[in-house]
Amino acid sequence: MSGSRILVTGATGVLGRPLVERLLADGAAVRVMSRRARPAGDGRRCEWRVADLETGEGLDAAVAGVDVVVHCARHQRKEAVHTRRLLDAVKAAGRRPHVVYISIVGVDRVPFSYYRRKVETERLVESSGLPWTVLRATQFHDLVAAVTSAQRRLPCVCVGKGVPCQPVEVREVAARLAELAQGEPSGRVPDVAGPEVRSWYELARATMATWPRRRRIVQLRLPGKTFRAFAQGRHTAPDRAVGKVTFEEFLAAHRRG
Ligand SMILES: NC(=O)c1ccc[n+]([C@@H]2O[C@H](COP(=O)([O-])OP(=O)(O)OC[C@H]3O[C@@H](n4cnc5c(N)ncnc54)[C@H](OP(=O)(O)O)[C@@H]3O)[C@@H](O)[C@H]2O)c1
Repeated sequence: MSGSRILVTGATGVLGRPLVERLLADGAAVRVMSRRARPAGDGRRCEWRVADLETGEGLDAAVAGVDVVVHCARHQRKEAVHTRRLLDAVKAAGRRPHVVYISIVGVDRVPFSYYRRKVETERLVESSGLPWTVLRATQFHDLVAAVTSAQRRLPCVCVGKGVPCQPVEVREVAARLAELAQGEPSGRVPDVAGPEVRSWYELARATMATWPRRRRIVQLRLPGKTFRAFAQGRHTAPDRAVGKVTFEEFLAAHRRG
């Protein structure tokens, strides 16, 4: 839909930043939503609204007059509560914008608490009565590298034994999301997954190879259904390996800065 005004929630996040960049490059009219004020010197050609999905403050002004809402705001425990608040504000504004929601591959196959909330959130979007699109993606390279890097100061790095991962370049997910946001509502669309299914062990090793000093990697097997589902790769989508950028290419690009 050309000429649409597109609101992006979570626009300052890992996914939101390249998404806004891509939409602006496409010439779209973008409205950023954040809990923070616009940084001084941000001269990008987009609107900025301060709003908080926790309190609802600023939300009515953020959603007023938009044609599309791309919902990328993330909350580990309250994503469904926040999404309900967002959808209520959108409906109260009296228009029927296209709602595009980003979810995660395997949310309905892995009984991880955050994933259960993503399923609940998908259902809210689907049953909202608004036109909708839901895209599921695998883990972003950034997240996989960050999980290893968070353990940098520990004596060893722990990874799940036998757990695979199919990380994807966030810019590729952003490009697909931008395309969906500028298209017609499509319901649940095919997943986006990275080019290779790898082991977390290999990915942790590759991340550590960029550090001046290596750490020992300890592989842990945890009890319970959630670990078993991850170990079975239920969060991967080998038949949807549409991403092009490999994890090593991501690391090399970030190393160059
Ligand atoms: N990371 C992954 O590997 C991955 C993979 C597949 C799908 N996803 C999905 O992609 C989405 C974005 O993930 P991400 O990694 O980009 O998240 P992120 O970097 O953690 O960014 C979170 C965003 O949420 C916003 N936010 C948090 N609380 C808010 C509140 N109370 N009100 C308004 N905004 C709030 C933040 O905005 P401000 O701080 O500016 O307010 C921030 O822009 C999530 O739905 C996630 O489940 C992520």
